[in-house]
Amino acid sequence: MHLNHPDISKVLVTGNQIAEKVSELAGQIDSYYQDKDPLLVGVLKGAVPFVADLSRAMQLSTSQDWMAVSSYGSGTISSGVVRILKDLDTDVTDRHVLIVEDIIDSGLTLSWLTTNLVNRGAASVEVVTLLRKPDAAKVQINVRWVGFDIPNEFVVGYGLDYNERYRSLDGVGVLSPAVYS
Ligand code: PRP
Repeated sequence: MHLNHPDISKVLVTGNQIAEKVSELAGQIDSYYQDKDPLLVGVLKGAVPFVADLSRAMQLSTSQDWMAVSSYGSGTISSGVVRILKDLDTDVTDRHVLIVEDIIDSGLTLSWLTTNLVNRGAASVEVVTLLRKPDAAKVQINVRWVGFDIPNEFVVGYGLDYNERYRSLDGVGVLSPAVYS
């Protein structure tokens, strides 16, 4: 679905800008891991398009697995509560894990997830996120690769939803407040 949509009040990142950034990040990640056989851990559901595009832009052969955790509920504000809704199928012991996130907002999800994967005995845990909001700076998380820093607004598209809608937008934009107020 094109970002030029009546419910989008402002375009933040176009599909073309995402494609360019994904290719740049993929090159950096390829060089970083070289022969390390990284396990990409996608965080459902928002990271689905990013994992799909990033892994295909990478030259390294990667394995993929998925986790679903919840921190938001159905509204627009982080609750601070992280629950595992779907766990990994893969044993991450001694694996080089790359968490692939669509967005870091409060940072709660990622802070919890990195600790959780380190505690399972992963050889390394790194993070790539396509988007990062300013509040993420309040939490100490080592994010090795960031696509775009974006303002603190309610954004949708390229995997990000509002009540499960707008995930299929080709870029990222600000959701018009009229939609949720
Ligand atoms: C979003 C996003 C991150 C998390 C970031 O997921 O995909 O996982 O919130 O927020 P935080 O930095 O404040 O913790 P969400 O819970 O909305 O699930 P979804 O990807 O299934 O939409």
